[in-house]
Amino acid sequence: MEGATSSLPSQSARVAVVTGGNKGIGLEVCRQLAADGITVVLTARDETRGVEAAEKLRGMDLSTVVFHQLEVTDSSSVNNAAVGGMEYAQGVDTNEEQFVGMDARQRLEWMRKQGRETYDTAKNGVQTNYYGAKHVIQGLLPLLLSSSEGKIVNVSSALGLLRFVGNEDLRKELDDIDNLTEERLDEVLDSFLKDFEAGELEAHGWSMGSAAYKVAKVAMNAYTRILARKHPALRVNCAHPGYVKTDLTINSGFLTPDEGGRNVVTVALLPDGGPTGAFFDEGKEASFV
Ligand SMILES: NC(=O)c1ccc[n+]([C@@H]2O[C@H](COP(=O)([O-])OP(=O)(O)OC[C@H]3O[C@@H](n4cnc5c(N)ncnc54)[C@H](OP(=O)(O)O)[C@@H]3O)[C@@H](O)[C@H]2O)c1
Repeated sequence: MEGATSSLPSQSARVAVVTGGNKGIGLEVCRQLAADGITVVLTARDETRGVEAAEKLRGMDLSTVVFHQLEVTDSSSVNNAAVGGMEYAQGVDTNEEQFVGMDARQRLEWMRKQGRETYDTAKNGVQTNYYGAKHVIQGLLPLLLSSSEGKIVNVSSALGLLRFVGNEDLRKELDDIDNLTEERLDEVLDSFLKDFEAGELEAHGWSMGSAAYKVAKVAMNAYTRILARKHPALRVNCAHPGYVKTDLTINSGFLTPDEGGRNVVTVALLPDGGPTGAFFDEGKEASFV
């Protein structure tokens, strides 16, 4: 690896690891962090897509971007539609005009009609959005704790707010952050999947429509708060990027990836000693409820 050491960051350099960095919001987050002088480890599960994305950024004079292959679930069984927890028909074409006059609820409704949720997509959605993120965090935790400015930004969603948990007792339990544990989160996700398989989601108060996506993001929010409590030296926060035009939304969003990425980067670049265990909605601190 001759020559590689010269491109290694110095001890004091700021380094960011971005998952899903090959496209959409993740790619924009990489671009904006690199433009801020940060060494960016752009990760992607697919080597070709990741290398191409990193080369594209380096071609924009952002020489601090390096690529590393990273499949967050570490499981080859997880399919491509995992992030949204749904299976979309191939090749849905969209154009700006078709969404004019539609509010967010109508656009989300349109989006849901393009796909279907099955037990497998639900399981994959939970694996990717919750366990995948957790897996990466666990792996990087020792490094983060050894840094004087360790920060974690979990890209969450407004669909992960506690208002989407219909069962009042569970909602309160998930908001009781001083007593909530990771083991309890595992139990909650297990019972969600059992209810999904048994066709009893509605009967047990789970929010319908992108059900797995919502519950995985609810769990991610709760895990963020648990981590922040456990590791006060770190800044651990959640960022909702806004409703963004990406493959995940079949381009039905209101914001560009640039704007959505900015809402995540704002949280990543909060000054040292800033908030931890917080939820940010489009760059502004907001409630988890
Ligand atoms: N778009 C929105 O309106 C919106 C709103 C709220 C929250 N978010 C969140 O923002 C994040 C990015 O979403 P996006 O809209 O930018 O979606 P996107 O354009 O579909 O990008 C998703 C990224 O995740 C990667 N990915 C999927 N499964 C993976 C796995 N198992 N391991 C590693 N990488 C994996 C994809 O890689 P491949 O290219 O290999 O598939 C891709 O790079 C997600 O967490 C999403 O929940 C988005």
